[in-house]
Amino acid sequence: MNEHHDLAALIRADTPLLAIDTHDEPEVIAAFQRALTEVLRPLLVWSITTGLRRIDMEAPAKPMSSGEVLDAIAQTQQKSVFLLLDYAPFLRYVVTARQLRELAQRHGCAPHTIVLVGAGLELPKDLEAHAVRFTLKLPGEAELDRIVREEALNYSREHAGKRVQIHSSALKAVVRNLKGLAAADARRIARRIIATDGMITEDDLPAVAKAKFELLNKAGVLSFEYEPISFDDVAGARRLKRWIQQRRAVFMGEPTPVPLDPPKGILLLGVQGTGKSLAAKAVAGGFQVPLLRLDMASVYNKYHGETERNLRESLQNAELMAPCVLWIDEIEKGFAGSDSDGGVSRRVLGYFLTWMAERKAKIFLVATANAIDQLPPELLRKGRFDEIFFVDLPREEVRADLFRIHFQRRNLPLEGFDLAALAAASAGFSGAEIEQAIVSSLYAAHGEGAALDQRHLLEEIAHTRPLSVVMAEKIGALRAWAAERTVPVD
Ligand SMILES: Nc1ncnc2c1ncn2[C@@H]1O[C@H](COP(=O)(O)OP(=O)(O)OP(=O)(O)O)[C@@H](O)[C@H]1O
Ligand SMILES: [Mg+2]
Repeated sequence: MNEHHDLAALIRADTPLLAIDTHDEPEVIAAFQRALTEVLRPLLVWSITTGLRRIDMEAPAKPMSSGEVLDAIAQTQQKSVFLLLDYAPFLRYVVTARQLRELAQRHGCAPHTIVLVGAGLELPKDLEAHAVRFTLKLPGEAELDRIVREEALNYSREHAGKRVQIHSSALKAVVRNLKGLAAADARRIARRIIATDGMITEDDLPAVAKAKFELLNKAGVLSFEYEPISFDDVAGARRLKRWIQQRRAVFMGEPTPVPLDPPKGILLLGVQGTGKSLAAKAVAGGFQVPLLRLDMASVYNKYHGETERNLRESLQNAELMAPCVLWIDEIEKGFAGSDSDGGVSRRVLGYFLTWMAERKAKIFLVATANAIDQLPPELLRKGRFDEIFFVDLPREEVRADLFRIHFQRRNLPLEGFDLAALAAASAGFSGAEIEQAIVSSLYAAHGEGAALDQRHLLEEIAHTRPLSVVMAEKIGALRAWAAERTVPVD
């Protein structure tokens, strides 16, 4: 960070009033301390609870009200820098606001620099006109690395010299994950992960991602998916699994012999209940990065305010979480649009397409959809997604795998079951329908007071009319469309 040069320049120019919107007070104070090594001036900090304190001399604080501090500034002869913490509420008093404005206009006092520091800092209009807004730069990787190491040292100091075990690759990943946060927040997270076990290891990464997400996503349009899913939980999808595996290293920015463009995103299109949502989650597991879900319904939700702003802020937050997977489930619902919405969905789509084309951050987009007629054609144009995968009903072999996965998920023993026969009997079933058949059979067995056996399952399967039968025509049309334009996922 070299913002202290900028601050030093502002102070040297005798800027009368600065406004810094942040809750990171220690960082502001530290930045001014650094700046004042270049421009020698006294640095004084005031808050309502401690009063006014000259900190470059480590002098004791003098208790002082919000009015008295302005008098004290007016009477100070030596050009100084005054940091007023959380002062904005006092500016509601006409007299106080007026007095501060006069100080800023230098009515008969020394050319001090007064700095207002606070979170969500709002100033009365006429004061705003006199103030220079200054934004603290977010710490870069070197700075974050220093912060984490400092916290490790603090931990040792507090634990009788016990050294913190730091895995260097984990430290790198932690630092990368902390990017986008203010120093104070990064420090707090670092302290927390060290405190749990006195170590910094790969195991800390999910906690860092989660803590960071909670700090960033105040609006709640993005959600963080905690439940890790691995491709082992997904039956079929061989091509997709290979595709992701081949691109992981490039996505994570590891060097390759020939330069390769990092993967940007895929669309999973297909029949209902075939595991598209599940596969989308597994992509994050495959890349080993956090998974964020963008809920288009809440982007449009009137309680969340302006739609376009919601989308813009969500995408910005996702960028701060990079590298990550951004999952948009049922994307057709977000961009289908109707003529009745005043063009909002067109504009949102336009914004989104621009973002897709221009984004620099390592965000891998996974969108799912199960209807093509509602998908805007612009979204399907070549080059938007790296690949459009079609998720069809599972083949026989994959159905056997589905039975196995869902048996295991419920801790059911596999002995005594003929998975091949179950797979053969369930032709035309989706993964969701196979799972449902297992659940219903468990109820049937329970009703008989018996253990689940092959017969329960076969009966349940025989009684089910799968969607592939009920909606044969629709699925046929989807397949025909997909045959020419997409790659089968399995
Ligand atoms: N290939 C699969 N492997 C493992 N489980 C599956 C698979 N397909 C479906 N399932 C089971 O069915 C459930 C529903 O699947 P999922 O929600 O992922 O389907 P989907 O394709 O997203 O459906 P929709 O189009 O209705 O959103 C999953 O939670 C999972 O338990
Ligand atoms: Mg789904």
